[in-house]
Amino acid sequence: MRLRKPQLSASSSDMDQQPNQPTQAQLLEGFNVLFGITELVGIFLIILVTVWVTHFRGGFAWTSDPGHEFNWHPLLMTIGLVFLYSNGMLIYRTQRTVRKRRLKLVHAGIMIFCLLCTIIGLIAAFDSHNLVNPPKPNMYTLHSWVGLTSVLLFCCQWVAGMISFLYPTIQPHLREAYMPLHVYFGTAGFVGVIAACLIGLNEKAIWVLKSSYSEFIDEGILINIIGLVFIIFGGLSVYMVSQNRYKRLPRPEDEVLLAERSN
Ligand code: HEM
Repeated sequence: MRLRKPQLSASSSDMDQQPNQPTQAQLLEGFNVLFGITELVGIFLIILVTVWVTHFRGGFAWTSDPGHEFNWHPLLMTIGLVFLYSNGMLIYRTQRTVRKRRLKLVHAGIMIFCLLCTIIGLIAAFDSHNLVNPPKPNMYTLHSWVGLTSVLLFCCQWVAGMISFLYPTIQPHLREAYMPLHVYFGTAGFVGVIAACLIGLNEKAIWVLKSSYSEFIDEGILINIIGLVFIIFGGLSVYMVSQNRYKRLPRPEDEVLLAERSN
């Protein structure tokens, strides 16, 4: 097996720095603070949803009590498809010194865990319609359409990403050509998920609170705050994932990995 000599990319070495170009440290300025804030907002979001479903919606059950089984749905969707999805998207930017091969596995692993939470969360939502007497119809709301479309997008991304990045015989230039699509549809799916959460929250508020929603009761205010925190978390995540200056720079060992694979 021939190994191509590893080359430092122009931007990866401070020795190659042009006089007026910002250093890597300058480009990354603010990233850690922003990421820390995003994580805190995400954890706060999970706590708020937990408080809402336990304190105001009666807590959790499984199939013996479909009304309370539903409460798993918002919580697991928030943990899996919002918090973990965002962390999975950002892993290449947050773990800059870890080898790319390991990062790919961690990225895929986080996304498997998202999928697991999503499947259980969706079972809880469908059971809450199917196991009541009389059963309620499925998939008639805008929320369920936007939500399921985002989940399908997420699944396609996962399969395409796995094939493209982990299957060793795929040509590197094909992987590179697919990359912008993966990033675009990954971000689009995440935006879809945030939209689904907002519509889901709003319809739940209108259905369960009825006319008391207009009286500024505690639960209504909490639901509105949860919605705002979804938007803040989503906005911060998309901002960090869309900033070119925060992109992980290629490391010398990444090039060795590519050369190993293409020989
Ligand atoms: C990414 C997140 C989410 C996705 C992908 C999603 C997806 C879905 C799907 C596919 C259904 C249809 C179940 C059926 O027809 O039997 C559903 C139901 C429901 N979801 Fe979500 N959901 C998400 C988050 C949330 C959140 C955060 C809430 C907040 C309360 C919520 C509230 C509801 C409600 C009230 C229903 C039952 C009524 C309906 O079908 O619209 N969802 N969800």
